[in-house]
Amino acid sequence: MTREPVADWSAARSDKWRRHLAGMEAMLAPIDEPLFRALVLTSPVRVADVGCGGGSTTIEAWRRAPRGSVAHGFDLSPALIEVARRRFGAHDGSITFAVADMGTMSPPVPAYGCLISRLGVMFFSDPHAAFANLRGWLVPGGRFAFAVWGPVADNPWLKATRDAVAEAVDLAPIDLSAPGPFRYGNVLPLVSLLGRVGFVDVSVTDWRQVLPIGDQLSAPDAARFALASFSSFAEVLARAGGDAPAIAHSALASRFAPHEHQGAVLMPARVHIVTGRTVAP
Ligand SMILES: C[S@@+](CC[C@H](N)C(=O)[O-])C[C@H]1O[C@@H](n2cnc3c(N)ncnc32)[C@H](O)[C@@H]1O
Repeated sequence: MTREPVADWSAARSDKWRRHLAGMEAMLAPIDEPLFRALVLTSPVRVADVGCGGGSTTIEAWRRAPRGSVAHGFDLSPALIEVARRRFGAHDGSITFAVADMGTMSPPVPAYGCLISRLGVMFFSDPHAAFANLRGWLVPGGRFAFAVWGPVADNPWLKATRDAVAEAVDLAPIDLSAPGPFRYGNVLPLVSLLGRVGFVDVSVTDWRQVLPIGDQLSAPDAARFALASFSSFAEVLARAGGDAPAIAHSALASRFAPHEHQGAVLMPARVHIVTGRTVAP
């Protein structure tokens, strides 16, 4: 049985994200709307973006925040931070990007008024220590909004891809207790953990929508995109060799075909938007 490697954001994994950045960002862009709606930025604020990747959500935070706000993106990957800086870095310091392990990096001075993350908080090796650390990144009364994936069963964009790959190779079940995108599919343990490390008013909004797989792609191209960029399916299929990549592609293109509308494959997705704050002064 082939184990799908844990999403540990090694250099190889961030390199893959970077190579497929445009398609991934276009696919995930709809999540920004509920994420920022949950945060409500009404007065100038310092925002930190946790696991900012190529920086598109960091720049979105800066654009949506009132004039005088700053947005700083932090990510484990030097290659992604390099891309973010090249695309969006502003010389006046209002938008900056830095390499950081947000699970362990000491809180900066001054601390931030808001923390946001689009799908960047599910990968900490020690979540208790990491979220306790993140609490120190916020000023008293500071707020956070984190987007995390809902259960795999409610995310057919991934389930269809896994099922198609499983037609070609044996896949081990996803280990939901390990760092990985679906770790907080059942969000209750995360809510409880955030309360235990000292956040208050923790609540969850459920967001269900369709996402365009890789942006504007036909079913066969979307299948190619998904197999190349999601999880470690490309590596698993390459290792299997033979007809495996072609079998998986054909199986996935057929699964995507009914979801193709006006030149895009629109697959249902479910995301939890988790919000809360630190105790006010
Ligand atoms: C699924 S990607 C999301 C990227 C970006 N937020 C977006 O939506 O386009 C997850 C990101 O989290 C980053 N990441 C994972 N663990 C991290 C950590 N401990 N500290 C900082 N960044 C981390 C990865 O390098 C990766 O860029």
